[in-house]
Amino acid sequence: NPHVSAVVERLCATVPDYPEPGIVFKDLTPVFADGPALKLVVDSIVAKFAGKFDAVAGVEARGFLLAAAAAYATGTGVITIRKAGKLPRDVYAESYALEYGEATLELHQEDVPAGTRVLILDDVLATGGTLGAAATLLERTGAVVAGIGVVLEIDALPGRENLPGREIVSLLHV
Ligand code: PRP
Ligand code: MG
Repeated sequence: NPHVSAVVERLCATVPDYPEPGIVFKDLTPVFADGPALKLVVDSIVAKFAGKFDAVAGVEARGFLLAAAAAYATGTGVITIRKAGKLPRDVYAESYALEYGEATLELHQEDVPAGTRVLILDDVLATGGTLGAAATLLERTGAVVAGIGVVLEIDALPGRENLPGREIVSLLHV
């Protein structure tokens, strides 16, 4: 949808050399801060997966914003995928490389009933490490990954190649 892409492109802030020299940071906080834009991006993503998911997973931290909104809009629940050490009960853990640094994501072993069709949301698809780990975690619990939705996809990085077989919706390619 060219209108949605244009709104995201207009509001997205580009920050050179953050968080370190050579990284061009795409900051979507102005999109989230704009009421009509937030509604537009969330509604656009969930519309592409209408009828295909039973729950929405968000990846800490920025994915939480989209996942909670999408779950509320569709009357589904939010599945919480967190950075290591934050969840209090038994977890599955998956480590991955970021565009800069490394991290581990965790998911409670018992939060997702087997067979649940889960739509995973995050703000940005860069290398795909984050969303790959999130998808693996969900599948380890017996969930089915219904698809992946992001606001922004960085085409210069191999995010899509690192998520083979996944249905991915991106509102804006940069
Ligand atoms: C950022 C962004 C995505 C991820 C994309 O999260 O929000 O989750 O990187 O990069 P990738 O495709 O190379 O994995 P980050 O871990 O920086 O932290 P935050 O969401 O907690 O701010
Ligand atoms: Mg993130």
